[in-house]
Amino acid sequence: MHFDLFGSGVDENEIVQETEAPRDEEKMMNEMERLTIEEPVRDIPLQPVPEPTFSIKQKPTEHNPRLRGRRKLISQKKMATLTPEKLQALDPLLKIVQQHGVKDFQEFGRSIGKKYLCTKLGEGSYADVYELQAKDSNEAQELEKRGGLIIKVIPFRVESTSKDDIADLDAITREIQLFQTVDALHGFVRCRGIHIVSGAYPDVLLEAFSTFKLTHTAESAQNLDPSVTAFRNKPLYAILEMNHAGTPLGRLGRARPASAFQVFDVFWKTAISLAHAEREVRFEHRDLHNGNICWKSLSGDGQIDVKQDMIEEMKEKPEVILGLSNLEVTIIDYTLSRATVGGITIFDPMKYWDHGYEEADGDSEGDKRQFRTYAAVRDLVMKAEAEAMALAQLEGAEYKAINKYELFVPKSNVLWLRYVLADLLARSGGGSGGGRNAYVPGSSKAAKKLQLEMWKGLEEVEAYLKGTAATLLPESADDLIGMAVEKGWLAEGDVAAFKAQTEQ
Ligand SMILES: Nc1ncnc2c1ncn2[C@@H]1O[C@H](COP(=O)(O)OP(=O)(O)OP(=O)(O)O)[C@@H](O)[C@H]1O
Ligand SMILES: [Mg+2]
Repeated sequence: MHFDLFGSGVDENEIVQETEAPRDEEKMMNEMERLTIEEPVRDIPLQPVPEPTFSIKQKPTEHNPRLRGRRKLISQKKMATLTPEKLQALDPLLKIVQQHGVKDFQEFGRSIGKKYLCTKLGEGSYADVYELQAKDSNEAQELEKRGGLIIKVIPFRVESTSKDDIADLDAITREIQLFQTVDALHGFVRCRGIHIVSGAYPDVLLEAFSTFKLTHTAESAQNLDPSVTAFRNKPLYAILEMNHAGTPLGRLGRARPASAFQVFDVFWKTAISLAHAEREVRFEHRDLHNGNICWKSLSGDGQIDVKQDMIEEMKEKPEVILGLSNLEVTIIDYTLSRATVGGITIFDPMKYWDHGYEEADGDSEGDKRQFRTYAAVRDLVMKAEAEAMALAQLEGAEYKAINKYELFVPKSNVLWLRYVLADLLARSGGGSGGGRNAYVPGSSKAAKKLQLEMWKGLEEVEAYLKGTAATLLPESADDLIGMAVEKGWLAEGDVAAFKAQTEQ
């Protein structure tokens, strides 16, 4: 199916750009290349940006005379909001997303408002995330088949900023490049289109924002009203279109404690996907907290745990355990991630990580676990830098100073997996009647035995990850998988079955 509600095309700003903003591409590219340097790994080209779901119809092109009458009006409106300097600074980003000029946010809002019901789904430190559901039932079904439609709206400033309340151009460029890079990889969210827009936050999204605020606790709806922040910051916005990845991990086990099948699948599927991404693009996520892994029914029929008849009728251990929960697991949010593509390394310099962390009494166990993981990764990266320096000295070579966060230290993925498993086990009920005592109701004797075995295995992995000094942990998620197979925590058949699924 071709989603062509909004096509890409020449935008008025392109005209503005070309007539008023002389391009200084070399300077801009140098600016971008400061983020690089690393020996090439696998020359995986960035994924071409897919045809976006949306087209802004009010943006006429030379080939679309229908709306030409409005051109001047819209064009003037845009010029008032974007200076030639800003347009020039945005040029490299616009090239990356293959967009000519900056689109108008109001028009974008009107276009989606006509076709879709918008619901705010969640938020992060910088972004608001909305689900779009087609109003037309046939289209809604088609959309569902394609994996749903989500937009992440990230305000950003062109000027770099020491304040961390809004992303800057470098940060947004990195997130978009990473989004395109992992798009091809199993276990990561599919990119459906990217738009750079400016202008007033559209009503359709503001309404969804307000509803979310009214229907959620202050803790889960912390973001400030975008119309207020927009007035203050006059930001641009990056809109990332993607598939619906489901519900964040933080909400697994709310209705009833997570089952052994769910915990096993989420943990090992995340680990295998990370291992694959390490091999393909030297990927480190660096922020894999329980809002950044999502789960949903793989078959799309609502089944999110092992089949009841299977558990009741089980006589012996199935050959393949991984996948029995029917959960599809997707890693999202690459704001802090690192990857190497075509010899270029994308990474966040994480200046703010150099400060120590002070745990506050009010922090939950989960928060503490998360903050300790950032600190552990920071220490790991500092050690990797010191080792690289020492090695250079030993070899009598001059150490080529690079930002330490540019180094490939895939053990960071293992540290985040340690966090993920502890989080998962905490939501399986842990020691309080859940965990290894929790069987899916109706389990046969063999099914109970299997679940006990699975819990024991998972607890063993957790004890190992927790009790082992960072220096002695596996060097990468890939090494952890190898070790898991050796130790019998994961069967070779499980890994093979997952691989087969990824190739489908
Ligand atoms: N593709 C998606 N499918 C389903 N939910 C999503 C998707 N993308 C984002 N979300 C939801 O929106 C929330 C915020 O998105 P995201 O984590 O990408 O934003 P962020 O501002 O970068 O977050 P952080 O605070 O971790 O930096 C997620 O925790 C998740 O609940
Ligand atoms: Mg997030």
